[in-house]
Amino acid sequence: MNNKKAKIITFGISKGGCSKTTSAGITAYLLSQEAKVLAVDMDGQGNLTQFLTGVDELCDVFEERTILEAIKERNIEKYIVEINENLHIVPSNDYLALFPRYVYTKATDENKNLILSDTLSPIVNQYDYIIIDTPPALSEQTINSISASDYAVIMNDGSKFCYDAIHKFLEICVATRENGNPDLQIAGVLFSIVDPRTVDTKAMIQLIDEEYDGYRFDTVIQRRAATKRLAVNGFFDNSELEKGIGEYRVFVKELKERVQ
Ligand SMILES: Nc1ncnc2c1ncn2[C@@H]1O[C@H](COP(=O)(O)OP(=O)(O)OP(=O)(O)O)[C@@H](O)[C@H]1O
Ligand SMILES: [Mg+2]
Repeated sequence: MNNKKAKIITFGISKGGCSKTTSAGITAYLLSQEAKVLAVDMDGQGNLTQFLTGVDELCDVFEERTILEAIKERNIEKYIVEINENLHIVPSNDYLALFPRYVYTKATDENKNLILSDTLSPIVNQYDYIIIDTPPALSEQTINSISASDYAVIMNDGSKFCYDAIHKFLEICVATRENGNPDLQIAGVLFSIVDPRTVDTKAMIQLIDEEYDGYRFDTVIQRRAATKRLAVNGFFDNSELEKGIGEYRVFVKELKERVQ
């Protein structure tokens, strides 16, 4: 066990299908090759849980054993699932939809944004990194995730709608800094599921660089069938694993430098 506080990193954007879960999952997996990592699934879709554990029947297998119960009991240790020695996860399932109701009807916390932060606090010294996946919405789940984090990675699939969502996500980050998490930093904007050679992608990269100078990670994650198939074949005993995650090794190197 190390005595340093984990770097807590949220992957987010309010636009759906921009590779938040895929990027969070691969990043957690790669970081765990050299460090102790806790993945936290704050999306009721449970995709990060499926991705890292290989379990699809989330409501059966993780019935009342998810981040929602961890939050309600403020006892996260009980809900940590060990994928292997270095990679752990707190799962989620559909019932995380009840989180906003809990926040506004049951939780007595003065600052409702810091409920997840409070939940994570007993175990932050047990990990080097905590990686949080969020839903495609500026919801309570996302706000609590950002409020618990040291850094945010903003996903971008190169589309106009995703470009618009960056501005809104950054507004939430500013609000979060003013309301409980003053030290939150933007780790950067990560392009994913794109073909970097197309004119449209190049134009979007240029636009982001002009508007958000220095934010963009140099690594651009390409659209690859092997990356998509990771959701089916998983990380373990997967002969095309390197094809699917290779580019992320460069991204993770960049990320580690930015969160030093
Ligand atoms: N680099 C990639 N190349 C090809 N397919 C990808 C890549 N990254 C992600 N995908 C696929 O794109 C789809 C959306 O990815 P993912 O689920 O990670 O996005 P998301 O932002 O988490 O979505 P949601 O907003 O629903 O949470 C998935 O089918 C995933 O397997
Ligand atoms: Mg997702």
